Amino acid sequence: MNKQDKILITGAKGLVGSALVEHLKNEGYANVIEVGRQECDLVDPVSTRQFFEATRPDYVFHAAARVYGIMGNMKNKALSFYDNVMINTNVVDASQKVGVRKITVMGTGAVYPFPSPGLPLREEMIFLGVPHPAEDSYGHAKRAMLAMLAAYQESYGMEWAYVVSCNLFGPRDKFDTEFGHVVPSLVKKFFDAKQRGEKVVVWGDGSAQRDFMYVKDAARVALAIMENIKGAANIGSGTVYRIRDIVEMLAEISGMTGQVLWDSEKPNGQDYRSYDLTKINSIGFKCQYTIREGLEETWNWYSEQMGKAK
Ligand SMILES: NC(=O)c1ccc[n+]([C@@H]2O[C@H](COP(=O)([O-])OP(=O)(O)OC[C@H]3O[C@@H](n4cnc5c(N)ncnc54)[C@H](OP(=O)(O)O)[C@@H]3O)[C@@H](O)[C@H]2O)c1
Repeated sequence: MNKQDKILITGAKGLVGSALVEHLKNEGYANVIEVGRQECDLVDPVSTRQFFEATRPDYVFHAAARVYGIMGNMKNKALSFYDNVMINTNVVDASQKVGVRKITVMGTGAVYPFPSPGLPLREEMIFLGVPHPAEDSYGHAKRAMLAMLAAYQESYGMEWAYVVSCNLFGPRDKFDTEFGHVVPSLVKKFFDAKQRGEKVVVWGDGSAQRDFMYVKDAARVALAIMENIKGAANIGSGTVYRIRDIVEMLAEISGMTGQVLWDSEKPNGQDYRSYDLTKINSIGFKCQYTIREGLEETWNWYSEQMGKAK
């Protein structure tokens, strides 16, 4: 990629898309095209095609999706499947039609089978079984995009990379306690409880373990993958934390140590997931942020936004 190439980013207002926009601009890319829902509804094939024909990007980072946390994925299976299949199909097809040189898309660890065929999870295991029931429709929709890219490569010679992403967090996430992801939902819970002088109620028992990555590192690795990797590539920090560890770090960061209650009636999700990182290691990628540093930045960003909103 050169610095004058037109680089289109879908989902540009979201967690990953906005971090990518910021990172590419910091790296000196001069023609970054940002697509949010306002610019184009990517569920609609005609609008998507027209948008791509009008902008004619050289490269595409596809980070738009209908994204929920565990409860959102369980309660919105049809919507999650429909929107994600439509958005991905339209974006990949439009990219091919306008001659995009390479597309790098955001996939998810939810594509992996449950139970895990082996740990750490390797990219070639994706189709060896069905995804975890809590996120199966989201996982299947994301798998369809992987199958589509392979088909478009065979039929049309399309170049692509598929980022099989661990859990991400950071500024501009959806801070939603009901349907959101673990970290933003915890950040909001701690913030609200602190404001009200109450205890923090946390879902599950904290035993589930995940690889978390701060979104600024995710943006760096997505750019490195666009430049250096073909096909599917896992991303992760290489360290697996218990949700309990994240809760303890946030309790310290927010000054709420000793104020946590666990609601073990609520779902935990899959127990343990770790990723084989051979591909990103082979291009020399290392996270610049520890989880604690990422959590601190996220907490500070969210507190500042809440302060502004008052
Ligand atoms: N966050 C994670 O932990 C995580 C983990 C693994 C993989 N991923 C993947 O990373 C990608 C980005 O996730 P994210 O966390 O950045 O999600 P996000 O913050 O929700 O961003 C997604 C963006 O896509 C936009 N979008 C949704 N439907 C659209 C439509 N019909 N037309 C145009 N834009 C639309 C959303 O706009 P609205 O806000 O207006 O809906 C939002 O700005 C997704 O593919 C996700 O599956 C994320």
